[in-house]
Amino acid sequence: MRSKYTALQISLHWLVFLLVAGAYAAMELRGLAPRSYRPLINAIHVTCGLSVFVLMIARLLVKMKYRAPAIIPKPHPAITGLSHLIHTIIYVMFIVLPVFGFLTVYFKGHEWTVLGIPMPHAPELDEDRQFSVKEIHETIANIGYFVIGIHAFAALFHHYVWKDNTLLRMMPGKKNRG
Ligand code: HEM
Ligand code: HEM
Repeated sequence: MRSKYTALQISLHWLVFLLVAGAYAAMELRGLAPRSYRPLINAIHVTCGLSVFVLMIARLLVKMKYRAPAIIPKPHPAITGLSHLIHTIIYVMFIVLPVFGFLTVYFKGHEWTVLGIPMPHAPELDEDRQFSVKEIHETIANIGYFVIGIHAFAALFHHYVWKDNTLLRMMPGKKNRG
């Protein structure tokens, strides 16, 4: 039995972490940059966001192949249930969030590219739909802060208060067999 997640799962977890931080930072800090940087900042946001979408799906597929390593000492079943619920919410949120981001740009109805690849778009601006999907995108993004906050707090609580191996299982390093 493994004592840690696989190297692939650990790499994907922290890569997604960086990309999520990049997507949030691009939006939160955009006001600090001159207006001429806006297209670059939007491109960073969209590229990080769509990469999160692809990698979260990849993570789900990888998750089906490898069982999560045991937490030692074993937490109360209610804690295990709660953490599974939060993980499920994170998977759903960070797959749905980029989809609504995509739709926000789609309904603008103009040509756009990601890493030079032309993306589909509505034939013309659909203001009502564009407004609705943007609202949903922004609401999910705002809830995302809390969910990730709870998730990170729980990981640190496991490590420093309960002193189990929850966090170490997700940290890079050599030792992988229990
Ligand atoms: C992890 C994925 C993503 C996160 C965390 C995220 C987060 C955010 C945040 C925090 C905002 C600003 C909300 C506000 O002003 O209250 C925003 C706006 C926006 N996002 Fe995303 N987003 C993600 C993915 C995407 C993707 C994939 C696209 C497009 C393909 C996208 C397109 C947009 C657009 C067009 C806006 C509105 C920008 C404006 O006000 O002009 N987002 N997003
Ligand atoms: C400082 C920030 C973060 C810390 C300390 C952290 C820590 C951890 C730890 C220790 C685990 C293993 C938990 C367990 O097996 O019970 C985990 C799992 C997970 N994390 Fe994070 N994480 C952080 C940020 C993120 C972000 C930004 C995302 C995605 C948006 C994310 C998504 C997930 C998911 C989906 C799992 C479940 C993995 C699985 O079993 O498939 N985490 N995280």
